[in-house]
Amino acid sequence: MKKQQLHLKAPDNWVNDPNGFIYYKGYYHLFYQYFPYGPRWGTMHWGHAVSRDLVSWEHKELALFPTRWEDRNGCFSGSAIEEEGKLYLTYTGVRYEVVNPEDPHTCLNEQFESAQLMISSEDGFRFDNQDGKEVIIPPMLDARIGHRTHTRDPKIWRGKDAWYIILGSTVDEKYGETLFYRSKDLHHWEYVSRAFKGPDYGWMWECPDYFETAGGKVLLISAMGLLKNGEKEKNQSICFTVEFEEETCRLEIPDKYQFLDYGLDLYAPQTNLDAEGRRVLTAWVRMPKPTEEGWIGMFCAPRVVEVENGHIFFRMHPNIRAACSEEITEVSQASEDGYMAVFSLKEGESVNLGGFRIWREGNHIRTDRRSVFPAFEGAHLVSETPELKNGCRLEVLVDENLIEIYINNGEYVISNAVYGLKKEITGDISGEIRLYTTENRDKD
Ligand code: FRU
Repeated sequence: MKKQQLHLKAPDNWVNDPNGFIYYKGYYHLFYQYFPYGPRWGTMHWGHAVSRDLVSWEHKELALFPTRWEDRNGCFSGSAIEEEGKLYLTYTGVRYEVVNPEDPHTCLNEQFESAQLMISSEDGFRFDNQDGKEVIIPPMLDARIGHRTHTRDPKIWRGKDAWYIILGSTVDEKYGETLFYRSKDLHHWEYVSRAFKGPDYGWMWECPDYFETAGGKVLLISAMGLLKNGEKEKNQSICFTVEFEEETCRLEIPDKYQFLDYGLDLYAPQTNLDAEGRRVLTAWVRMPKPTEEGWIGMFCAPRVVEVENGHIFFRMHPNIRAACSEEITEVSQASEDGYMAVFSLKEGESVNLGGFRIWREGNHIRTDRRSVFPAFEGAHLVSETPELKNGCRLEVLVDENLIEIYINNGEYVISNAVYGLKKEITGDISGEIRLYTTENRDKD
């Protein structure tokens, strides 16, 4: 299969969340939620792509698929670690309790049960789906801890002297919550603690991720039902700077949060360390309809997460910036990977990227994609950042189906899916717009 650069897209059919993101034995592995039988969500498999540099990706064979009672209706999201040379994946197995007569690939009335499973590999490419799966956390039977149906998406990490898992769950389908588990040997797991916030933070937390950075500790969650005004996608990924104590797994979550991305299209992010020890994140780009090529769903470019003075930055990964090495004078000269536009905006100035409008109003960036996005009920067409504190310099990655606007080196990012973008750029600005593209990959 052809290599993809800058943005990893579905190989065909449907993808959603990134899973098992890890740098292991010289490759970045990015597994993902994949439905192989059509451009829609259904029985989940894990697709697999690898990269040497986080820039150039190649799709591989399927990694995980349903083979057991506990995962017979899907291998839901999960994560990866390395231990003694082996790659371990942990994920949620889903079992429907009734068959949907209209469609065996979806569940009827949420009648399903979830368990957490583990599988390992010697090389990161071959997985024994028949005999290699182990249930590490059985379905929740104690409703005081977690929900039997809605408990999922284990994110695993190595703590000081044990392994930890954070899981997404819900208190009575009212408040999102996270659960913490601990293990000494990766096989036996004990429940340690839980944390939740209350009614203003969504009813279920999917894909939690917890990590430490030099500037602070971060919790990422994908909160179902967070936005209630009906205009926008109601499930949203948000992040907090938190306090966390490993011995007790006591998590203190403040009231204030940031959106992961102010375009509100990204969801279910996952992080891990890159080869240089940076905290790097990718996320699913939600798309409303398949492209003309018949695939739907992609991933944002990897971002470096850093915390400074309590603010969480999502910076363009240096490998991505370095890959956009060829300066060009017109968009028509861009390679098929797309291009990067770099410019600053003064009050009232605007740029139009082939139909996608970006402008500055006061200390906010605003965007409008209505001429490059299908109009449907509740479509989220305009976006805006909170007040900017560090100036107004933009680095914009543009590809046929995704625009990512990194503002002030990741102070905020707006990412939006697009369709039918024109290959042109016009600007009503006093400064210059510099354009860069990738080297033509046919050269190597
Ligand atoms: C988030 C999510 C996860 C789940 C997966 C199923 O988008 O709903 O909670 O594991 O997708 O595909």
